[in-house]
Amino acid sequence: MERLDKRLAATGNWSRKEARELVKAGRVRVNDAVARQIDQKVDDGDRITVDAAPIEGGGPVYIMLHKPAGLVSATEDAREETVLSLLPERYRRLGLFPAGRLDKDTEGLLLMTNDGALAHRLLAPKSHVDKVYYARVDGVLDEADCAAVEQGVTLGDGYVCLPGHLERLEEGRAALITIHEGKYHQIKRMMASRGKPVTYLKRLKFGPLVLDENLPKGGWRALTEQEISELFGQ
Ligand code: URA
Repeated sequence: MERLDKRLAATGNWSRKEARELVKAGRVRVNDAVARQIDQKVDDGDRITVDAAPIEGGGPVYIMLHKPAGLVSATEDAREETVLSLLPERYRRLGLFPAGRLDKDTEGLLLMTNDGALAHRLLAPKSHVDKVYYARVDGVLDEADCAAVEQGVTLGDGYVCLPGHLERLEEGRAALITIHEGKYHQIKRMMASRGKPVTYLKRLKFGPLVLDENLPKGGWRALTEQEISELFGQ
């Protein structure tokens, strides 16, 4: 058994002082419980995480990211900056990738994980995971647009979307749009086919996950245990 702060410092990632600060800030968990004491005793069997990332690497990591416009949803790109650049260096070694894509100019909730099995399940077309977007459009959304989304909008290429939901906001200049699939540029293509192109798009929900209002654009945080178990229940 050894002290938690000593064990953290032994990884070479933090000094003893930094390790104590991490514990004080509530960023360290031992076997999923937030560690409160820097002198807590731990042994080799204990699972220790900092910001949900196992200190020795290897375990699954789940991060909520508030994607800003201007970055691509990829792990690497020859020309463009990726969402991975928003995470600290030590996460880059953990194999994190975005579970699903948002367009370069779309903002909002993006799940970053290295759990391929979960991502695969969430993104499988038959999973029908709900996604809620806030969209502003050029034009005024009316009853006919609501009805069309409820029925399933036909896109320019003839694809008929699954029924969704559109709640008008701001006198029809914006809306909350819920979809249950994730076709390429789906919201933009749905609104374009209604003749009201999207001028701003932000994802607010992904399955059970809700974008944390306290996260600034470009900000991130580890998912809570509750959020992780909800994702697995999805
Ligand atoms: N629909 C779009 O058109 N773009 C996104 O980024 C997400 C959904």
